[in-house]
Amino acid sequence: MSTIDFDSDNQIVSLYGKKSSYNLKLNSNSMPLHLHWGAKTCLSVKQSFFPANDRGFMILAKDRDSSYFAEEMQFEYGFAENGDFRVPAFRIRDGQNYPITGPFELTAHIYRGKNPIPGLPSARPGDTQVLETLELRMHDSNSGLWITLFYTMFPEYDAVTRHVRFHNEGSRPIKIEKAASISLDMYNWEYELLYLHGAWARERQLQRRPLQSGTTAFGSIRGISSHQFNPSFALVSPETTEFSGEAYGFSLVYSGNFLTELELNHDNNLRVNLGLHPDTFEWQLQPGDSFYTPEVLMIYSDEGLNGMSHNFHGFIRDHIFPPAFQNAERPILFNNWEATYFDFEERGLVELSNIAADVGVELFVLDDGWFGERNSDRTSLGDWSVNTAKLPNGLKGLAEEIEKRKLQFGLWLEPEMISLNSKLARAHPDWYISIPNRPVAEGRNQLVLDLSRSDVCEFLVATLDQILSSAPISYVKWDMNRYLTNVASPQFPASQQRELYHRYVLGLYHVLDEITAKYPKVLFEGCSGGGGRFDLGILYYMPQYWTSDNTDAVSRIKIQYGTSLFYPPVSMGAHVSAVPNHQVGRTTSLEFRGHTAMSGNFGYELDLRALSDAELRQITQQSAFYSQHRRLLQFGRFLRIKSPFESSEAAWMFVHSPESAEDSYDYFLLFWFRLHAEANPPSPRVKLAYLEEHAVYEQESSGLSYTGSELMHRGIILPQLEGDYVSQVFTFTKKGRFG
Ligand code: GLA
Repeated sequence: MSTIDFDSDNQIVSLYGKKSSYNLKLNSNSMPLHLHWGAKTCLSVKQSFFPANDRGFMILAKDRDSSYFAEEMQFEYGFAENGDFRVPAFRIRDGQNYPITGPFELTAHIYRGKNPIPGLPSARPGDTQVLETLELRMHDSNSGLWITLFYTMFPEYDAVTRHVRFHNEGSRPIKIEKAASISLDMYNWEYELLYLHGAWARERQLQRRPLQSGTTAFGSIRGISSHQFNPSFALVSPETTEFSGEAYGFSLVYSGNFLTELELNHDNNLRVNLGLHPDTFEWQLQPGDSFYTPEVLMIYSDEGLNGMSHNFHGFIRDHIFPPAFQNAERPILFNNWEATYFDFEERGLVELSNIAADVGVELFVLDDGWFGERNSDRTSLGDWSVNTAKLPNGLKGLAEEIEKRKLQFGLWLEPEMISLNSKLARAHPDWYISIPNRPVAEGRNQLVLDLSRSDVCEFLVATLDQILSSAPISYVKWDMNRYLTNVASPQFPASQQRELYHRYVLGLYHVLDEITAKYPKVLFEGCSGGGGRFDLGILYYMPQYWTSDNTDAVSRIKIQYGTSLFYPPVSMGAHVSAVPNHQVGRTTSLEFRGHTAMSGNFGYELDLRALSDAELRQITQQSAFYSQHRRLLQFGRFLRIKSPFESSEAAWMFVHSPESAEDSYDYFLLFWFRLHAEANPPSPRVKLAYLEEHAVYEQESSGLSYTGSELMHRGIILPQLEGDYVSQVFTFTKKGRFG
C-alpha cells in the first residue's frame, strides 16, 4: 500500500491517511505550496489554486515559470524577506550576513520507511506498518544551502510527522536565526485554538478561544517545555465538540524552549509555526554541516476532540514510547515522598514496604534524600553516593529487602542538577551553567549542569550506569527541579553562545539515549517539579510522567482532563495522597482520591503507617480493582464525557478500542465525579459513546441493563450522591445482543 502519491504532470504530492490527506504542490524554482490538510480530498488539477489579483501594494515574486504575489500564497515553509510579510518559519543569513531568500531549486523524493533524526527523539516507524517519507529538497545555489522538508504519513492515526534539515554545501558559514519545525498556511475557516496553560502545581488547564487578527503566540524560554504552556495544541471548528467536528492537533517532539505562532492576516489566512524559540536560539552552520529541527506530530480527526485524542494516544503508545513499554502493563507504585519527605531511614522504609506489599502495591519507590548529606533541598545534588547513616546496607541492601516482599524497587534521581553545596561543585566549579564573572542565580538552592559539555554528559552516563548496576533497580524517577537561566558556556566561542539552550537539550537526549539503550527494561518516569517537562521528547525515553506535584484529587481532575487531550492516561503518574492534602489543604474521601488516581497511572504516596485498618482494607480493595481492570485502564480507549472546566461535574470512560482485536474487552468503565454540591440537584445524566449499538450492557452493582444505543443516544441517569467531592465508578458488562 502506498501512502504518498506524486502526480508528476501537475507536480502535486498527496499523502493519504485512513480518513485524511495532506496535499501540496511543487512550484518549480520556489517554495513548495500548501494546498490542503484535513478530510481526505482529491484535487482537480484544472484550476489555479491561489488568487492572482494584483490588489495594490503587493510584492511580485518571480520564479522560472510564473509570477505570483507571495502574500496570496500558502507555503509549506513560510519564508522571510521576499514579499510574504507573515511571521516566517525560518530566517537565515549567508556568510555576508545577507538574508537568504531563494529562489530555491526544488525537487521531491519519495522513499520507503522513515529515518531517525540524528541527535533528537522522533516517531519510531515501528514494524507493523509500511511507511513512506517525502523529502522536499530546496537548494540555494548562491550560498550552497539546502533546506529539506521531511513528511511521513502514519495512515492508521491520520498522523503526519514533519521536520527540517539545513545543510551547508557552500564554503562559508551560514547563520540560522530561526528554524521552526513546521509552518502551515491554512485558510481560516473560523478556527478556534485549544491549548494548555498553567503553572507549577496547576499544569495543563484547558483554554479554548477564537483566533483574532494578528499573532497569537505562546511558548517557553525556561529551558524546558514548561509548566506554563505545553508544546501541544489544537485548532478546531467552532462546532467541534468532544464527539464530532474537525480537530487538528499539533505536538512538538522536544523538551526545551519552543514557540507557537498563529498569525491571522488581513486575508483571513492563518499561518501556524511551531518549533524552536528564536529568542533563545541561533546556529552557526559550518560548511559541510547539517542542522536538524525537532519533529512535529500533526493529527487530524473528524470525530471531535475524543477522536483526535484517541489518535494521539495510540500514536504515542505505538510510535513514541520506548519499545519495551509500548504494551507493557505498569505496576502499582508506592512513593515515599509525601510519606516521609527527607526524614527516613532503612527501618522505616522496610516497614512501609511491608504494608505496601500487603495492600497490593507492586513497586516501591525511594524518592529524594537517599544520597550525600541530603536532609533538605539545600545540598548534595551531584553527590550520588548513598547516605549510609540513613541506609546502612546501601541501596543494594534496601532493594534486596524490598524484593523479599515481592516488590520491585525504584529510585529517585535528579541527574541534571548540582547543589553549590556539594563535592561535585567544589571539584568542578566550571560544570554548572552560569555567566563567567557574574553572580549565579539559584532556584530551589540548585544550579543546572552544563549539558552542552560532552565531559559533563559522559560523567552523567557513567554515574547513572554505576547507580543502576549497583542494585536491582527496575524504575527511575528522573526529576528536574529548576528552569535554566544565565545561560553561557566558556567552552564555546562568542559566535555560538546562542546555541546553548538547544545544545543543553541535545546533551540531555544524548545521556538519555545512552542510558536507556543500556537499560532498556528499566521503567523511567519523568518529572520536573511535577509536570514541567511533560512532552513527547521526554515520553520517547520515559513512558510515564509525574503529572503534577499537586496530588489533591479535585485539582487533579482538571489537570488530568487537560493532559488527556494529547497524552494517554497510562503516561500520567497519579497517586492517592494524604488528607488534608499537602498542596491545597483540602480533605476528600479515600474513594474519591482512588477514583481520580486510578484514572491515570496508579499509585500511592502517603504514610501507610498512619492509616487505620479500615483505610488499609479500602486500599487493598482499590488496588485489587485496579489490577483487575489494569489492561483496560492502561491500554483501553479513554473518552472524555463531561468537562470539569464547564461545570462542577466530570465524567470519563474507558472502553475497548474496536479496531484492535487483541485489546478487545466485553465491558467498560464509567467514572463520574461531582466537585461541589448544590441544593435540590437533579440526578446526574450522561451520554456515553463508542459502544456497540445493539449490545446489551449490564451494570454490575445495580444489575440494571441498557442497550448500547440507549446509553449513547438517550443517556443514563446516575444515582444522586450527597456532599462535595463525591464520585462513582460503574462497571458495565456486555450480555449479548438486543432483539
Ligand atoms: C520534586 C518532585 C517531587 C519530589 C521532590 C523531591 O518537587 O516533583 O515529586 O520528588 O522533587 O525533592
